[in-house]
Amino acid sequence: MSAVDPQTTLNSAGDAPNAGADRTDLLAIFIMGKRYDVPSTLTIQKAFEYAGYQLIRGCGCRGGICGACATVYRLPGSPKIHVGLACQTVVQPNMYLSMVPFFPANRAVYNLEELTPDAKTLLKYYPELAKCMGCNTCTKSCPMDIPVMEYISAALRGDVEKAAEISMPCVMCGICTSRCPAELGQYNIAIMCRRITGRHIKPAAIHVAEMMERLNTGRYEAPLEQLMTAGLETLRQLYVDRQMEPHTGDEMWEPDDKRFL
Ligand code: SF4
Ligand code: SF4
Ligand code: FES
Repeated sequence: MSAVDPQTTLNSAGDAPNAGADRTDLLAIFIMGKRYDVPSTLTIQKAFEYAGYQLIRGCGCRGGICGACATVYRLPGSPKIHVGLACQTVVQPNMYLSMVPFFPANRAVYNLEELTPDAKTLLKYYPELAKCMGCNTCTKSCPMDIPVMEYISAALRGDVEKAAEISMPCVMCGICTSRCPAELGQYNIAIMCRRITGRHIKPAAIHVAEMMERLNTGRYEAPLEQLMTAGLETLRQLYVDRQMEPHTGDEMWEPDDKRFL
């Protein structure tokens, strides 16, 4: 995140930052200790921009999917540290904000082919699993409403498939990790469970094998090369002209141009 010239830069709401002195829907927030008056309906992410900051880190999808925008804040009179996704959390009066773009967590290096789906494997790579004290803070802090402690318990029991299933909506924002008193990196444990499940428990996906075969024939090389060497205008036009899958399309939907299927 970096500050830009508030006099010359329009924010995502289309106003000059902090230009709404005569607006009545503003509330005060504090970013890194400095006060800004921002519209009360903005998310934290938009409030940062309204205040004149340019988000170059800690910002991705803006839709609660990528997990890049984990934010820590405090509220007046409350001893609690609050956490949330900046793109999903609406500002509150006198919120004290700071961005924490990265939560350090143990990330094991392993060869997926050699892993077995059991507790012994998980504890070998993530011995801190055994330190979970069942406080449930991780579950309470998860912006995706995942019962995080449940998948950690499943992992500890060696029920790798269950841990994978429960953790499926995880966006890897790291908020649970930031709050865990036992210093677990829940999301890294979860992704290991999902990888083991995919590789060693679930049956092989036939359609993926078929697609790999098609890829290996080289049929996509020429069109990819064309795209890589196309000029900006051509790419822009291709983007504008592209056929999009309808929101209400069923599973059997296919584009008119079937050359690349
Ligand atoms: S926050 Fe940490 S210690 Fe508490 S239940 Fe979750 S994983 Fe266990
Ligand atoms: S499980 Fe943890 S890392 Fe995953 S979405 Fe919830 S808080 Fe974020
Ligand atoms: S920017 Fe992707 S989850 Fe917030």
